[in-house]
Amino acid sequence: MNKTIQQLIREMTLEEKASLCSGKDFWNTKAVERLGIPGIKVSDGPNGLRTPKIDSKDLGFEAKEAVSFPPACLSACSFDEKLLYAMGERLGTQCRAEGVDVLLGPSANMKRSPLCGRNFEYFSEDPYLGSRIAAAYVKGLQSRGVGACVKHFTANNQEYRRQTVSAEVSERALREIYLAAFEGIVKEAQPDTMMCAYNRINGEYVSERHEILADILRGEWGYEGFVMSDWSAVNDRVKAVAAGLDLAMPGEGPWQDQQIVEAVKNGTLDESVVNTVVERILRIVFKYQQGNDVPSYNMDADHAFAQKVAEESMVLLKNDDHMLPLPKQGKKIALIGAFAESPRFQGGGSASVNAHKVNIALEAVKAYADVSYSKGYLLEEDRIDTDLLEEAVKAASEADIAVIFAGLPDSFESEGYDRADMRMPDNQNILIAQIAAVQENTVVVLHNGSPVEMPWADDVKAILESYLGGEAVGQAQARILFGDVNPSGKLAESHPIKLSDNPSYLHFPGDGESVEYAEGVFIGYRYYDSKDMAVRFPFGHGLSYTSFAYSNLRFSADSIRDTDTVTVTCKVKNTGSVAGKEAVQLYVSDLTRVTDRPVKELKGFCKVSLAPGEETVVSFELNKRSFAWFSPKVHDWYAATGEYRVLIGSSSRDIRLEKTLHLESSTVLPMKVTRNTTINELMLHPATKPIIMGLLDQIVAYMNGMQKQDGGEGMEVPAEQLIRMLESSPLRFFNTLMGMSMDQIDGMIAQMQMAVDTGSKK
Ligand code: BGC
Repeated sequence: MNKTIQQLIREMTLEEKASLCSGKDFWNTKAVERLGIPGIKVSDGPNGLRTPKIDSKDLGFEAKEAVSFPPACLSACSFDEKLLYAMGERLGTQCRAEGVDVLLGPSANMKRSPLCGRNFEYFSEDPYLGSRIAAAYVKGLQSRGVGACVKHFTANNQEYRRQTVSAEVSERALREIYLAAFEGIVKEAQPDTMMCAYNRINGEYVSERHEILADILRGEWGYEGFVMSDWSAVNDRVKAVAAGLDLAMPGEGPWQDQQIVEAVKNGTLDESVVNTVVERILRIVFKYQQGNDVPSYNMDADHAFAQKVAEESMVLLKNDDHMLPLPKQGKKIALIGAFAESPRFQGGGSASVNAHKVNIALEAVKAYADVSYSKGYLLEEDRIDTDLLEEAVKAASEADIAVIFAGLPDSFESEGYDRADMRMPDNQNILIAQIAAVQENTVVVLHNGSPVEMPWADDVKAILESYLGGEAVGQAQARILFGDVNPSGKLAESHPIKLSDNPSYLHFPGDGESVEYAEGVFIGYRYYDSKDMAVRFPFGHGLSYTSFAYSNLRFSADSIRDTDTVTVTCKVKNTGSVAGKEAVQLYVSDLTRVTDRPVKELKGFCKVSLAPGEETVVSFELNKRSFAWFSPKVHDWYAATGEYRVLIGSSSRDIRLEKTLHLESSTVLPMKVTRNTTINELMLHPATKPIIMGLLDQIVAYMNGMQKQDGGEGMEVPAEQLIRMLESSPLRFFNTLMGMSMDQIDGMIAQMQMAVDTGSKK
């Protein structure tokens, strides 16, 4: 390109500019040939390329063969940023080889309910973990000269009426959970494009929310790429352009561009806004026209990598009596379940790939042992086939060990609709129960995009969660089952015992018009752990064939200001007899009690690989954000002065080390002190705390003195108890309490207000 983007914009007609703001077809943007401006090609999807075999203008196409990597529901369990970076690199190379400029992924929404049909495409219920893992993927992908498209921005947490539903979310939950899931990616990885979600938030389409697309995304987070719409997500083209939505996909015809032209002509849209949109789009378009080198890639090598991702991510949920790994000789093993020969390895919809080659467990286990096989149940329909059931139970009873492959069939979860409940098909639950009744050595291997109820969990010895394992699923399962690979995945989401335990249960999926996010910031383990509820398997949980000991938790400083960072270190040792990997997790618990907060929040993780007996030091950096919550009062992140507990664990429920840290806040929250301000509010505010504490001392002395005057003997109420009794009283109560005049009270208010205002200005 010889001309600068600014020169090109100056030379373009308004019609040409408007034409760049929508797609040419489903997978391409428009070119302006007169000026040498090319279009770019986009393609689904997040866990493997889904490009049409022959150039297709619509969705109903036959896709080219491609490697199907494990979807996010599994790859997130690796807790391994390097691995996701490498997966991004592989996807990037494939894109380059196939002429794709922007890959429509990763999908980064939060898992609010286990029922969301698209959970398999999403990483986590935790925004820190989700955004770190997704950012690594984006960086890897973009390092290959291909743009990412992070989707679906934001609060798109259900499929039911996904195109119109309004997510009713508080500012705090939006910031701490649903925006944070994207914020970390934008700040860390600068994705070239973002995909604006279909839904509305608090009544307004995301595609029309200037506050989100412009003020927060670009203004606060410094986003430099462009925003495209989800497919047909644009409700009002002109409003969307004004809000900061650059490219409407897939392009619904000339009428859309015409609306922009008319709006500029009739003065409702400033042409400078259109120019900015065009500039943002062209910056990315030209970025991908630089090199002509087309890399080659090897599908078999990528298949082997897909297997590695699956092996590093599958989660050993339960392993009583060291049931796994399975013995390679000397025992009769019965393999049971249709998934052993027809595994479910990916989800349905735009993320589904025409897989290169699929490994099935039934074949893969043959490298290790002679096994029998019975199908056990029908996969296509939830009906008990008595012959299949009886044959499987008989095989299990005659064997030493039964390994059942079970899970959710394709029709149970997909893009486009949500699950109705959390159950597996009855025919599989019944099979597992009957086998567990005759065979004490039963192992269950699961295939599912999202948690399932496991009524049989206590009756089987081992459970391996393989989620959706990508095309090398069977090979990865066999290697873990027989111990060639030591499992090291950790759950990136909680598995509740039953659906009704989930915090969104009473408000999912809403009435269709809207859905109340009534649980606020208490999503996933933030809720279960705060309520100390029993869960089937907690967030961060995952077993290994070895064991790890944690020790020596240290801070670089025990007291910090919120402008500082602190380094946290601990030691982890492999205390077992085989090599293994451990994802060490750091949670922060806010002890200041300034606001309602989850009892713990993940703020760091690190996966280490250790030989038997080996020990290493794990290190984490924490900063203000690690301690902060989003205060709607100041519309900003805030960490109050006080104590915070740093927890190091092997899961959110298996905390091995903890230590308290003191933090000094540099922010003084604004406060209007009035006669109705309570003593508690004044105690929580650093500027008024010393004043009110002084007053409380006087009150205690006064009240206990009064009691003596009244003839009370040794009846003194302990100061602490008196203060607690008074905490909720407003300042005007001092009138009744101590006979203070209203003038005196107002004088006190003025003194406190001055302390607050001076503190805020510092
Ligand atoms: C999905 C996107 C996808 C697009 C193109 C939409 O319906 O929500 O995730 O990238 O279709 O297939």
